[in-house]
This record gives sequence, structure tokens and C-alpha cells, in this order.
Amino acid sequence: MPVIAVIGAQWGDEGKGKIVDLLSAKADVIARSQGGANAGHTIYRDNQKIILHLMPSGVLTPGRQCLIGPGVVLDPDIFAKEIVAVTDLGLELQGRLLVDYRTHLVFPTHKLIDQYQEEVRGGSKIGTTSRGIGPAYADKSSRRGVRVGELINPRMRDKVCGELYDYHTHLIEKVYDKELPDRVEFLQQCEAWADMLVPYASDTVASLQVAIEKNKTVILEGAQGVYLDIDLGTYPFVTSSHPGIGGAVLGIGMPFRKIDYVLGVLKAYCTRVGSGPFPTEMDDETAERLRARGAEFGSTTGRPRRCGWLDLPAAKQAAYWNSIDGWAVTKLDVLDGQEALKVGIGYQIRGRVISGVPATQQAWDEVEPVYAGLKTWQNSRDKTTFEALAPTTKDFLSTIEKFTGTPVSVISNGAQQQATIMTRGELI
Ligand code: GDP
Ligand code: IMO
Ligand code: MG
Repeated sequence: MPVIAVIGAQWGDEGKGKIVDLLSAKADVIARSQGGANAGHTIYRDNQKIILHLMPSGVLTPGRQCLIGPGVVLDPDIFAKEIVAVTDLGLELQGRLLVDYRTHLVFPTHKLIDQYQEEVRGGSKIGTTSRGIGPAYADKSSRRGVRVGELINPRMRDKVCGELYDYHTHLIEKVYDKELPDRVEFLQQCEAWADMLVPYASDTVASLQVAIEKNKTVILEGAQGVYLDIDLGTYPFVTSSHPGIGGAVLGIGMPFRKIDYVLGVLKAYCTRVGSGPFPTEMDDETAERLRARGAEFGSTTGRPRRCGWLDLPAAKQAAYWNSIDGWAVTKLDVLDGQEALKVGIGYQIRGRVISGVPATQQAWDEVEPVYAGLKTWQNSRDKTTFEALAPTTKDFLSTIEKFTGTPVSVISNGAQQQATIMTRGELI
């Protein structure tokens, strides 16, 4: 049975949640390896909209084991709210939702620091989700973070949490000139978080190993997208983790040779939330139409998403970096009835075509897309088979395949699970 990694191939919000929810029907284990509550994965069940920030999307399918690996940064307040929301749907979580002992925590102080850092950046702010992601990963890298295993250990909790609190107090008071809530209250809060987390805390790396050894079907659910990767993305306008296949395997201790299929999720156009380079960004009028049709507003922050044309050079590079075996092309229906349709087919800087994608901030700022105009179509929304799609829709899909050298395996033409066409048979 296969291990499938579902990876966002653009700037996030490609529709990973819908695809993972769909695949979960045939999976045993679904794992998140990176990111935190900056993610917002939207799933429709019986016309009900559910947005998950921390839990793997498989949690909505009864009986599936859901793992939150060491590479995730976990906000205990948001996790607690999600437990209530999912339990209210009538779903049992205990025993099947596990958070790794090694997973780092995001504290309210991380969120304050995130906010202050953005204030200090002023006009050049990143436009973060204010979920404390950067500061939490910074503390992890600086080896002063607090992990679930230490939080739930009564002998270690006060020491590690107290030390982090003292460091944050210093930073917030001295550098940002703001005051922090009381230390005693903070430590009491840490104890409450520990009590909440105890039933879920586990060694998810070991659980996944057992699952793989038993040939279970596993889905690794990526968060964010490849161009938000801290090393390969549009730095500094990125997140602080590795949304690609590297982060997926590392953040849950998964041997990379055991991955059978990497499914890259590619929206039929591009969006990005927050600041930063976006070569194929559209003019306002076209963007507004797509934003309205595609409901392009952030799942986590509600911010309007910037919209742009499909960027094939970026997709091709993402396919290479991540060994993408097949695309899930999502939101095809949003392009129905377009008056004009363009796709980016090249990058140029000062009139010279470049290969790959830019490596520096300056090059990302200067890069200009080369476009190809494609024929439009009226309706893909009602189609249930590949054959039934208009020839112009098929041309659009084959343009993606030819340019990126990667087949389209899944077509998504609506937010609901059933609005999906598998073009090359079932993946699992
Ligand atoms: P994720 O972060 O990658 O999981 O994506 P989000 O959930 O943040 O954003 C994708 C949005 O598009 C959600 O509102 C989905 O319900 C919706 N969606 C997913 N696939 C499709 C599709 O094929 N067509 C339409 N119209 N909406 C879709
Ligand atoms: P999903 O999993 C879209 C963006 C933020 C900001 C940058 C840094 O739903 O695809 P951060 O809070 O991570 O420090 O913000 O990254 N960002 C996302 N954009 N989808 C996401 O997740 C994102 N997670 C972070 O908007 O530009
Ligand atoms: Mg999202």
C-alpha cells in the first residue's frame, strides 16, 4: 500500500485540504510534518465548511489515525479549540489523534513577538498570519523552545517554560518596550495546556514506522506551498518551515525512499496572501473576478488573496525540487467563462530569458513573466469525466503537462469532494 505526499506547489492555499480529505477515504494514517496554525485547510462535508489549522484533514474521516509530527509548531490554544470543533461534529479523537513529544509549542508570547516584529518592519512587513510561527521556529533553532514532551513532564515544565518566559520578557520589554502578562499566570497556563495535551502526546515517529512496516496507506499532508519555503522560496517573504517534500519526510521521521507518490497541488491560477514577489500577478479587474468566483480570502486571516495567472516556470521548478509524480490541478471551474486566459511560460530579467526561478530578492523583484494566451471554455464545473471536458480545457491541462513534464492525475472542479476527476485511475 502506498505512501503519498500531498505538497502545495505554489504560495499555499492550492486546495490541499480538499485533496487530502478525498484521499483519506482510502488511507489509514494522515500526518502533518511542518507549519502550524498559519495553515488553513478548508473541507466541505454535506455543505458544511470546516477549516482545520493544525489537525490533519484526515481527522474528518472516522477511524483514521492522525499524526502531528515533530516538525510542526503547535499552538495549544488553537489545538484545544479544534478539539472542541471536531468533537462537536460527532467525531472521536482520543486514541487516533496523536501529537509528537518532540513537537515544539507556540506560546502567546510568540504571537506577540510576531506582531511586534511586523510593526518594526513597517512598510516592508512580511504580512504574516500573526500566529507566532517565525518566533516559534526561531526559538526551536536557537534551542530554547519548549516541546510537548517537556511541557507534560511536571518536573521539567516549570524550568523550561520559565526560562522561555524570562527570555521573552527580556525581548519584549527591552527590545519592543511592551509589557508581558504575569509569570505565575503563565506557568499556571502551561500546566493547563499540559493537562489538555497529555491524552494526545505520543511518539508519532514510532507510530508511523509501525504503520509503514505493516504496509498501511499513509498520506503526508503538506502545509503552505513550495514558494513559501524558507530556503527555496521568495525570502524573506516566506514562512519559517519547509513545505516541500524535504520538510514532509524530515518533520515526521519518514524514510524518503518509502515515499511512493508525490502529488503536487497546483491551482489553475495562482494566489498569494501577504507581501512579496508574485511575477504573474493580474490586473485588479481580472483578480477581482477570480477572487469572487474562487472565494479567494484567507482561511486563517480572512485577508483577500492576491490573484495571478498560472505560473508554469515556477510549477516546473517545484516539480523538480519535490520529485512531483503527478499534479492535482484544482479550481479549474473558477476559470470557467473567462474572457481571456493566460499562463506564464517563461521568466525574463531586463529582456533576457532566465532558466529556473530567481535566487535573489532583486531578481525576484525584476523578473517579468512571458505569457502564452490560451483558448477559454465555458463550463468545466458540471463535468464528471476527462472525456467530457471541452477541447480547450484539455489543451490547458496538456499545456501544464508538456511544460512541466509531469502528468495531471487529479482534476478538481469544485470545492466538494465529488467534484473531482481522476485522470489516471485511482491513486490509492
Ligand atoms: P489549502 O490551504 O491548500 O488546503 O487551501 P484552502 O482551503 O486554504 O483554500 C482553497 C479553497 O478553495 C477552499 O475554500 C476550498 O474549499 C476551495 N476549493 C478547493 N478545490 C476547489 C475547486 O476545485 N474548485 C473550487 N471552486 N473551490 C475549491
Ligand atoms: P496553507 O497551508 C497561504 C504566508 C503568510 C505570509 C507568509 C509568512 O493554508 O496553504 P507566517 O505566518 O507563516 O510567518 O507567514 O506565509 N502563509 C500562507 N499563505 N497559505 C498558508 O497555509 C500560509 N501559511 C503562511 O500569508 O505571507
Ligand atoms: Mg489554506
